[in-house]
Amino acid sequence: VIDCVLAIETSCDDTSVAVVGETQNRKNFVHALVSANQDLVHSPFGGIVPEIASRNHTQYLLPLVDECLKMSNIDWSRIKGIAVTSRPGLLGSLLVGVTTAKTLAFAHGLPLLGVNHLEAHLLAPFLSDDTYEAPSDFDYPYVALAVSGGHTQLYFVKGLGQYEVLGRTLDDAAGEAFDKFAKLVGLGFPGGPKVDQLARPAGGSAGGDPKRFSFPRPLIREDNFDFSFSGLKAAAARVVGEMKPSDIQGSLADLCASFQEAVCDVLVAKLAAACEHSGVSKAVVTGGVSANSRLRVMAQAWGQSSGTQIVVPPLRYCTDNAAMVGLVALRRFQAGEESPLTLRPEARSRPEDFQGARSR
Ligand code: KG4
Ligand code: ZN
Repeated sequence: VIDCVLAIETSCDDTSVAVVGETQNRKNFVHALVSANQDLVHSPFGGIVPEIASRNHTQYLLPLVDECLKMSNIDWSRIKGIAVTSRPGLLGSLLVGVTTAKTLAFAHGLPLLGVNHLEAHLLAPFLSDDTYEAPSDFDYPYVALAVSGGHTQLYFVKGLGQYEVLGRTLDDAAGEAFDKFAKLVGLGFPGGPKVDQLARPAGGSAGGDPKRFSFPRPLIREDNFDFSFSGLKAAAARVVGEMKPSDIQGSLADLCASFQEAVCDVLVAKLAAACEHSGVSKAVVTGGVSANSRLRVMAQAWGQSSGTQIVVPPLRYCTDNAAMVGLVALRRFQAGEESPLTLRPEARSRPEDFQGARSR
């Protein structure tokens, strides 16, 4: 039985390695998770440069594998399989992870499994570790809102391998919208956390006024679960374009709070609609944007008022990480699946990965 896997995630700019397994008392247990974040490397370019991301993966990955095994106190004899994100993502970045995973599998005589990165995000609410216990009453079926710099999707998660795409962004991802807005008002990349920080009341500052600027809530009343953030971005650009630089500086907190409120209103409204449509009272919010303090408050408030259990996993399992990849592999290995050593990276998901007319 495969009860412990080494997992690798290199689909975008984070290099991440984890050892995930189950013991007699712990299920879905993360023995160790180590990641190298490249934000500082890419920030001078105002976005992720794929070639630089892949080169850094080649430098960071093997040292991280060693470090992760050391941290986990688990040696190769206890590792029963190798998991790797094989799609979707940046092809050059994926190639580094997939090639390394294949080599490790071959060298150690272990089975290999290629994992869909988005599926991995969906199973994050089950992960536990030494300092965090996943809620024991959370299980399939549930709705998942995956919001990051690269994706914004709503899924109906019915069970392992049964994921219906309810809706997705038609243009920018929510994190991308935060980042573009942040750039517009001069906050650098990635700007999402800075927008959150400026909008939030803290340390004597009152925080921003979310009502000062009225930004549009795209598609909020539309009878579907799709998102669109390009109109909101354009509206913000118009407002900011008409302001003097000194006014922008003086109104930064209000601008950030107003923009953030618009994004979060739409995300929570669609999440609520998706739960109603699916008839479930369990939901997970995951992806890097789930770090947003306003989104957390609004989602939890809606959860309370509607009797919906909302799980927001710890941030280390929401941002891109190898632990979630390891969990998918553990489940799929146990279901008898395995990938051949001819596994290839793919930039996109496959049609069979997700159900629903909107799957992409
Ligand atoms: O999941 P992630 O680490 O990487 C991928 O994009 O896959 O997500 C990063 C994204 C960035 O767009 C970043 O600006 C956004 O998540 N983000 C936030 C916050 N923290 C991270 N956006 C709004 N508020 C935050 N607190
Ligand atoms: Zn991701």
